[in-house]
Amino acid sequence: MRPAIRPALPTDLPAVAALDAVCFPADAWSATAWADEFGRDDRVVLVADEGAVVGYVVLLVPSFAADPIDLLRIAVSPAGRRTGIARQLMSAALAVCAGREVLLEVAASNEAAGALYAGFGFEQISRRRGYYAGGEDAVVMRRQEKDDD
Ligand SMILES: CC(C)(COP(=O)(O)OP(=O)(O)OC[C@H]1O[C@@H](n2cnc3c(N)ncnc32)[C@H](O)[C@@H]1OP(=O)(O)O)[C@@H](O)C(=O)NCCC(=O)NCCS
Repeated sequence: MRPAIRPALPTDLPAVAALDAVCFPADAWSATAWADEFGRDDRVVLVADEGAVVGYVVLLVPSFAADPIDLLRIAVSPAGRRTGIARQLMSAALAVCAGREVLLEVAASNEAAGALYAGFGFEQISRRRGYYAGGEDAVVMRRQEKDDD
């Protein structure tokens, strides 16, 4: 069954926070941080809903349209991985981003996410040395929609 991709509802908050703790054991956002994300006007949170929340993506969408959108987070439950759910979430997120530049940061060792992003046309534009808490580098990637996208 392919999950439905839809905007997150306030009632999704506990499920998203719980999934985040599983997907980012060293770097999970707190319940308070998630409540802030859900409440902000400049955030778009989409969830993959299979009866339960099995994935999510968070965008920072500045109101000034010339400013780039930041893809802050995307994750899929371990049991649901490699079935195309992240691809579904990315497609829906990029529809929100139509016509705008999108930036993201990804840990240099995160091959799964790097391959996902590259598959959607993101290209590496820089590297931030020692960006993450453990000292790992971040790769900064950018996607600029082309006229024929
Ligand atoms: C990265 C992540 C979101 C991918 O989710 P997913 O639903 O398994 O991805 P999909 O099944 O939609 O795969 C789409 C593409 O991503 C890439 N990909 C996904 N998992 C991969 C893996 N383990 N190794 C290599 N490439 C991978 C592939 O290019 C894949 O296309 P393909 O299946 O045609 O080869 C998931 O592994 C995850 O939640 N990881 C933990 C959280 C995280 O690191 N998030 C990104 C940083 S914010």
